[in-house]
Amino acid sequence: MHVQALELSQYRNYRKLNVELDPNLNIFVGDNAQGKTNLIESIYLLATGRSHRTFRDTELIKWNAEDAQIKAQVNTRMGSFSMRVILARNRRKRFWIGGEELRRQSELLGFLNVVLFSPDDLQLVKGSPGMRRHFIDLGLAQVSRVYRHDLVNYNRVLQQRNSLLKDIAERKAKVDQLHLWDEQLVQYGSRIMYRRARAIERIADFAGASHRDISGGEEILTVHYRPFYLGDEESIDATRWLDAEQIAGDFAKMLQSSRSQELRRGTTLVGPQRDDILFRIDGKDVRQFASQGQQRTVVLAVKLAELEFMREEVGEYPILLLDDVLSELDFSRRTLFLETIGNKVQTLLTTTDKGNFQPDNLRHSRQYVISDGQLALEG
Ligand SMILES: Nc1ncnc2c1ncn2[C@@H]1O[C@H](COP(=O)(O)OP(=O)(O)OP(=O)(O)O)[C@@H](O)[C@H]1O
Ligand SMILES: [Mg+2]
Repeated sequence: MHVQALELSQYRNYRKLNVELDPNLNIFVGDNAQGKTNLIESIYLLATGRSHRTFRDTELIKWNAEDAQIKAQVNTRMGSFSMRVILARNRRKRFWIGGEELRRQSELLGFLNVVLFSPDDLQLVKGSPGMRRHFIDLGLAQVSRVYRHDLVNYNRVLQQRNSLLKDIAERKAKVDQLHLWDEQLVQYGSRIMYRRARAIERIADFAGASHRDISGGEEILTVHYRPFYLGDEESIDATRWLDAEQIAGDFAKMLQSSRSQELRRGTTLVGPQRDDILFRIDGKDVRQFASQGQQRTVVLAVKLAELEFMREEVGEYPILLLDDVLSELDFSRRTLFLETIGNKVQTLLTTTDKGNFQPDNLRHSRQYVISDGQLALEG
């Protein structure tokens, strides 16, 4: 799929922007604070419903403006359609697909798929487990309506169960009300875990292969699923987890055995909200020993794996957003990367220094200069 045209009004530092995008490689060059990340962010927001940088939508509206708008014309295997979001102060943001307004923001996912790689993503390796869950959840939610549905329901049940546990702890409710929520928690939770296990298995395959390519075959990257009930550095062999029923059985048992502790603490202590993903190089945990460069290579390999995974699920590649990350790679890796990706995936990449790229890399790309929220086509 690809974004054919993008239009921004009063978004961040853009007063008005109209741009036609190349279906392959688009390179945005600009000094610091000119609007490169803002542009990437606008596409991410159109795809996922929110910014990757802030939860506060009002920050996205140009200072002194009342509302902001992002519009795009998107081409996919299924056809061509327009997308639009309006952000207003003191009002919920609103989304349109092909002229029809969406009732809920959750209906947005799946129309325009993206994989984003920005400097913050280095945290994917070293950061908290929540970042890795967000990574797998967003990848899956974009490609699977069923997963979106299970995730929404799971979180709802979890919240309600937590508030019941709190009420029980404060003697405002009875313990025997709990089993209703337990059943649903296990039902949705085990489906989420099953799907995560399957997805991580695929991502592990792809990431291992692209890591081999990028690192010259000297190191072996493996990616593992660590469900909530295992220790910090344990992982499962996902191929042995054959069905969701088995997972449901395991989950139900864990719930039983942690009951008294949950009642004491007044909150849910088990479930996929405590899952994690482990990355290992040559069998060793990347969190503990990997250098900056190794971490960067792992994250790049994992992002590329997400790209392949999503293509496998959907039948076409998502859009790749690379915010200021390629310049960190050495020359040969960058060239290899642009050659393999640039021709098959619509890519929007930003850089402060075009000198990072060889004329050969740039031959089949469209290049723009961004300056103070204005865009100019190069050449
Ligand atoms: N709501 C807003 N209204 C107007 N300007 C804004 C708003 N939000 C952010 N900006 C400005 O947008 C400018 C560009 O931000 P952006 O993050 O896109 O820069 P960048 O080109 O990615 O820079 P860098 O190379 O440092 O990452 C910043 O100077 C920021 O102050
Ligand atoms: Mg930036």
